[in-house]
Amino acid sequence: MEVNKISEGKTKIVYDFDKDHVLLRFKDDITAGDGQKRDVMESKGVLNAQTSAFFFRLLERNGIETHYVGMKDERTMIVKKLKMIPVEVVLRNIATGSIVKRLPIKEGEVFEPPIVEFFLKDDLRHDPLLNYYHMEHLKLMSRKEAQYIEDIMMKTNDVLFNFIKNKGLILYDFKLEFGRLGDKLVIGDEISLDSMRIRDPNSRIYDKDLYRKGYDLKTVKASYEEFLKRITS
Ligand code: C5P
Repeated sequence: MEVNKISEGKTKIVYDFDKDHVLLRFKDDITAGDGQKRDVMESKGVLNAQTSAFFFRLLERNGIETHYVGMKDERTMIVKKLKMIPVEVVLRNIATGSIVKRLPIKEGEVFEPPIVEFFLKDDLRHDPLLNYYHMEHLKLMSRKEAQYIEDIMMKTNDVLFNFIKNKGLILYDFKLEFGRLGDKLVIGDEISLDSMRIRDPNSRIYDKDLYRKGYDLKTVKASYEEFLKRITS
């Protein structure tokens, strides 16, 4: 692509586009464990770009603002230029993953209401958990902004959880990243099987946990394809 690269992460590249927009190109790389495990899964960038575009459109239709503008090609999104905040915001409906390692909480426990957590994006420090005090001291966001983000997380969960439930699946948890657009906070990054946990009622896993748990890339890809087909049909 003959455009200026602004930055490159583990799974996406940001390119210049125009004054108010950038391009987000989804790579075929799949990583886990703060980038320690890494592979290339053919077509993964297309699958995650399409899944993310689908969910961004769903949120926009429900009045939740995202950075999504449109698609440049099958793996490249045109998005609003945000000033990204290096924080991962996680909402959990059902316990699994890092929370059952950190706290005396059992796999499968239901959170009512859901739990929201903030983590610093810092691979070297293994993305440590943050509270309001940490975020204010590190000048990441004010308490008021954090509370606004918690509200957006809950609203997003209502939309995503119900949509996914209607497809016969369960949204265990998901992660969002936010950026500033003027004085607004807007959802950026992606919403894909890399950033959410989806199970069926028999606990069959659809998401990146397959890769984290060591399933082969063929199985992971088939699952990503099946999920995209399921949500779009
Ligand atoms: O690992 P943990 O249980 O904290 O993950 C919670 C949710 O956040 C999961 O859906 C996971 O896929 C997502 N996540 C992510 N990027 C990370 C860490 C977690 O998308 N760096």
